[in-house]
Amino acid sequence: MKKYDDLLETAIKSAENAYCIYSGFRVGSALLCTDGRIFTGCNIENDSYSLTICAERVAVFKAVSEGVTSFSAIAIAGSKDDDFSAPCYPCGACLQVLNRFCGRGFPIILADGAHRLSDFLPYAFNDSMFNK
Ligand code: THU
Repeated sequence: MKKYDDLLETAIKSAENAYCIYSGFRVGSALLCTDGRIFTGCNIENDSYSLTICAERVAVFKAVSEGVTSFSAIAIAGSKDDDFSAPCYPCGACLQVLNRFCGRGFPIILADGAHRLSDFLPYAFNDSMFNK
């Protein structure tokens, strides 16, 4: 966990930019790439609620749009105030997007420690189900 402390701090810092006009819940993410770069993200809410995008997908889409698709870990932090001590678990949509680019053992760093992608999404939908 210690080796990911800075990544988690970067996620917390990224939550400052959260555009959470409806929920008031700030989420930040920090996606570490295998080339050492870090892409950050925050949640961005919209008047048309379903268009809201989570912090994790913002970070992934920023990276992929810059040609980076190889990732080492992601840190996620969420809070309604300045206390980020409780874990903010990633939603199913973000897990599905991460699963496209990351292995089952991909580290997901939260306030309560390091988890694996497969801990949250044990049976992932993937292209092997339609590309037979
Ligand atoms: N949210 C995230 O940014 N990431 C997640 O994995 C779960 C939820 C955001 C979306 C919305 O702006 C707010 O948290 C409340 O659902």
